[in-house]
Amino acid sequence: MKLSLDRVSARHPAARPNSPAALQSLELEVASGEQVAVIGPSGAGKTTLLHVLACALRPTAGAVRLDGRDPWQLPRSELQRLRGEFFLAPQVPPLPPRQRVVTAVLAGRLPHISLAHSLRSLFYPTGITQADAALARFDLSDKLFARVDRLSGGERQRVGLARALLAQARLLLVDEPLSALDPSRAAQALASLTQAAGETAATLVTTMHDVPMALRTFPRIVGLRDGALMFDLPAAEVTAERLHALYEQKLDELQGNAALDEPPAPAPLPVQMHCR
Ligand SMILES: Nc1ncnc2c1ncn2[C@@H]1O[C@H](COP(=O)(O)OP(=O)(O)O)[C@@H](O)[C@H]1O
Ligand SMILES: [Mg+2]
Repeated sequence: MKLSLDRVSARHPAARPNSPAALQSLELEVASGEQVAVIGPSGAGKTTLLHVLACALRPTAGAVRLDGRDPWQLPRSELQRLRGEFFLAPQVPPLPPRQRVVTAVLAGRLPHISLAHSLRSLFYPTGITQADAALARFDLSDKLFARVDRLSGGERQRVGLARALLAQARLLLVDEPLSALDPSRAAQALASLTQAAGETAATLVTTMHDVPMALRTFPRIVGLRDGALMFDLPAAEVTAERLHALYEQKLDELQGNAALDEPPAPAPLPVQMHCR
């Protein structure tokens, strides 16, 4: 699915009316099948951007186009059908605690199957092979029949990603998929996600907290700050200087990541003082 944002501004529904918009006149084009990572300090508008692309949040100005059509101009039934073509994976997947992993993963398919079928599958999970294959990509085969509330945070996050694969979506919008994973798991999970998206030629937009991992994995990096586009570049052109400018005054978020391959160039980092 091809995406286009034309001077889009958006604001969280709960934001104070006089607060600055979470997205400010944002311009972005993503080709069908492209894979893009969105980085930037907290509060930059990354999650809001995913919500706008998922048609979960209507822009206050500007236009969104998905495959050339403005979803907000479509009749309600068409908008619903369009929503079935993409999958938004939130940072903390909404998994009912007492559910079995297999059922939670199969819920990813819901837009594609009938209501009767989906209700039946709550009690008699069908498509177990499909769920097992998706879980195997995230090294979770042994958890197929485990209860969701017995899983660790990282396992739950990986179940959320397996669920995204079942959606067979043309557009995958994934919000900080690695925040609860240790580095080796994170690398493996991200590789599985990008590979699966590539196999189905789905467009993939992922917000990333781990900047070095984003640079290693994604060909294109979008840097957001205060709701505005700071850069939109091939990963190889995202220099340490640009990252410093992007995370200015929030360098601890950048430093919280694994060490960057390229040492940050000019400004020395503030020395941390411990007071007793
Ligand atoms: N629950 C909320 N209530 C009010 N305002 C919010 C809420 N969530 C986000 N915002 C506003 O939207 C801005 C962008 O937030 P968000 O898209 O979550 O950023 P990011 O994902 O980059 O951390 C925030 O700085 C805040 O002003
Ligand atoms: Mg966010």
